Amino acid sequence: MRPLSTLAAVGALGMGALGWALREAQALVIETIRVPLATASALDGMTVLHLTDLHAESPRTWSVGALRQLERLEPDLVLVTGDVITQPPGLRPATRALVALRARLGTFVVLGNHDHYHGTLGQRVSGKIGRFSHPEAVLGVFREEGLNTLRNSSVRVETERGPVQLVGTDDPYFGMADLNQAYAAVDSTEPVLLLAHSPDAARLVGERRCDLMLSGHTHGGQILFPGGLIRGMTNTALRLPSTYGLMVIEGVPTHVSAGVGTANLPLRFNCPPRATLLEFVGPGRAPEALA
Ligand SMILES: [Fe+2]
Repeated sequence: MRPLSTLAAVGALGMGALGWALREAQALVIETIRVPLATASALDGMTVLHLTDLHAESPRTWSVGALRQLERLEPDLVLVTGDVITQPPGLRPATRALVALRARLGTFVVLGNHDHYHGTLGQRVSGKIGRFSHPEAVLGVFREEGLNTLRNSSVRVETERGPVQLVGTDDPYFGMADLNQAYAAVDSTEPVLLLAHSPDAARLVGERRCDLMLSGHTHGGQILFPGGLIRGMTNTALRLPSTYGLMVIEGVPTHVSAGVGTANLPLRFNCPPRATLLEFVGPGRAPEALA
């Protein structure tokens, strides 16, 4: 092949891959994952819609509109593990889209690193981190619109099978997660779902009860090479068993969601956006139910 035609072929391949990655970033996968429980608890049978990393920049951000696809699910809980926004104009539209997802027991949200600071890609490339916001301003909009917020705090949710405790940290990526404070009111005889933006929070759990930690932050790697040729980036201090999915980190059972949105570039490859319905399955249920 002549050099010019080789160049044209490489160019066409590159443009094709770019088009693919742009389309994949807007192809939401709605999946159900069964979470086996080691012991019987009030979590048995509960459904939790785990969402994370919307990265809303404006009312027109794709992930904000994509949430409409989830309105039919009606889970028991919607749990949102941070990075709701990238830029302030996305805050209220994203919050309203989350509120529109009806959950019988409520919708709860924790803060991610992008909820604390707002920087454009250009600012970050040029070494300027962007503008830090007062987190109370972000949390205030969440509350105004009807979202329940957890910031190094916990809440007890009453279900037909008994109480379930939701514990939420502030952003672990910026070192703001305070597990002592978050667990201060937790009764360890009751099941605990821990919400923490980065799965690095697993290092802080220690002996505290955590039936499942829900995290995001990794975007699932966002760009994954077929066959796992190159390890996907997770932006975590810990080396995770996988860039997303159900896993055990430092002894903590964890679901890491690949998230709905994108940061920096609106591209995904081999790692589409995900909304995950977690269905908790107690030990009395048939093993084939976990397949
Ligand atoms: Fe994120």
